Parts: sequence; structure tokens; C-alpha cells
Amino acid sequence: MKKYFVIGNPIKHSLSPLLHNHWIRKNNIIAEYEKKELDIGNLENFVNQIKNKNFNGINVTVPFKKDIIPFLDKLSLEAESTQSVNTIYLDKNKVIGHNTDICGFELAISNLNYKADGKKIFILGAGGVVPSIIYALKKMKVSKIILSNRTKSKAENLKNLFKNLEILDWGEMPDFDMVINATSLGLNIEDRLNLDFSKINSDKFFYDVIYNPKETSFLKTAKKLGNRTENGQKMFIYQAAESFRIWHGIHPEINDEIFNLLNQ
Ligand code: ATR
Repeated sequence: MKKYFVIGNPIKHSLSPLLHNHWIRKNNIIAEYEKKELDIGNLENFVNQIKNKNFNGINVTVPFKKDIIPFLDKLSLEAESTQSVNTIYLDKNKVIGHNTDICGFELAISNLNYKADGKKIFILGAGGVVPSIIYALKKMKVSKIILSNRTKSKAENLKNLFKNLEILDWGEMPDFDMVINATSLGLNIEDRLNLDFSKINSDKFFYDVIYNPKETSFLKTAKKLGNRTENGQKMFIYQAAESFRIWHGIHPEINDEIFNLLNQ
């Protein structure tokens, strides 16, 4: 039986096992996918199980997407460019780290028929998923990326990876076409971003990386103000589908069954 894991801390709310095990069953693959909460000190030992062929693949989530890198043999261009790994597998006895969050975000946006080309994008947050979003946005040829994080130095640090980022103080409101909440604020239903969007026009696109809860207060406020909104569920599904394709060589089906499964 092949074994796959998603590792993070905390991990109990991850829906990755539900999704992957569904696709595993649908494709008659003999495998199981589990979640595992790890401490940073256990990462090396866990990754070595891939090399020893005890495990077949690992998804990595918050807060280990960067911390895992020293224990891998090789990074894909996407993982190297973002210093962020969410998918691990063995190839010719080398442990490879790859990043499928990038294509997850890209596919989610193109699936929504949103033309990001030439748009001004405002990103809130500078955590684990932000380098992947910036990389994807640059591929989509957006005209400007403005970044704001409560801890400004973390946003400034992203300039080491990407050129032409504009950094704003937390609380400032720039001119933008699309705003992305990539902070963890909203994971708890009572969370509120202390930002004032009331003075912007109502023709913006508000995107929240969070998909559970389905509608954060960030998206609720945006909707009330008349803007287009979308949560991170499709990004989550597409990044998982790409990991599945890499591990099993099969494009899993994304249909109503999947949305029903995740929304139950
Ligand atoms: P990590 O920072 O470990 O990568 P993450 O969940 O990927 O974890 O990122 C959390 C993001 O949410 C960060 O951008 C964080 O801002 P700080 O860098 O200042 O910590 C942001 N965040 C969390 N709580 C917040 C709050 N109460 N107000 C504003 N931003 C917050």
C-alpha cells in the first residue's frame, strides 16, 4: 500500500485527506493519505521516510513550506523561485520538492474567467503562500503588485525573491483592481481585518485564500460594498489535483462530487 501524508502544525482542520482519498478510491489506486501534525524537529526524519521508500509522497502546509527545504535533495524551478515547497516525491532516488500552489492559484483565477493581465494587485500578508501567489501573478502579467503586512519587515524580505514589489504600511489603502487576503485572519469566524475598504469603488475583485469558513468577514464586507468575491477553495482543489497528478500520473476529476464533498 502506497502512503501519502500532509504535514503541518496545526493540521487537524486539513481537508487534503478527504480530497486525496476520494480521488484514490475513484481511480482504484491502492494507497492511503493521512494528516500528520509534526514539530519542526521531526521534519528531517519524516522526509527521510521518502528516501527509504516507506512513504511515497508528502504535502507540506503551514508553517513548514520553507523549513522543509534543507532536507530535500532537489527543488523544482517553482519551489526554488518561491522558496516554498508543498509537494514532495522521489525521483531517481532523489527527494524532490515542488510547489503546486502556484498552478493552483493560476488555474483558480483562469477558471473564474478573471483577466489578471495588466491589473493592479494588492496582497495582504507575507506568510507561506504569498511567494506562490506573487510568482503566479507575475506569470499572469499583472501590472503592479502591492504588498502590505502587519510586520512590514516580512513584506520587505520578499523583495529578495521578487523585483518590483511595492510595500505599504499596514492599514494604508492603495489604488487596486484585485485584493487578496493571504493572512490567516478569517480562519476564526470572529476575525476582522482592521482595514477600511469603504472608500474604494465597488468594481474590485476580493479574493480570500481562506476557504474554511467559506465566507470570511473580509469577503462579507466586500460583497456588501458590491464587489466581486471568491474564496480559496478552487485554489485548494487545483493544488491538490496537481500533487495527485505528479504522484499517480492521473489527472483527477474535479466535478460537483468534489464540491459537495468539501462543502458538506
Ligand atoms: P507564517 O507567517 O508562519 O508563514 P502564515 O499563516 O502563512 O504563517 O501567515 C500568517 C499571515 O497572517 C502573516 O502575514 C501574518 O502577519 P505577521 O507577519 O505580521 O505575523 C498575518 N496575520 C496573522 N494575524 C494577523 C493579525 N491579527 N493582523 C494582521 N495580520 C495578521
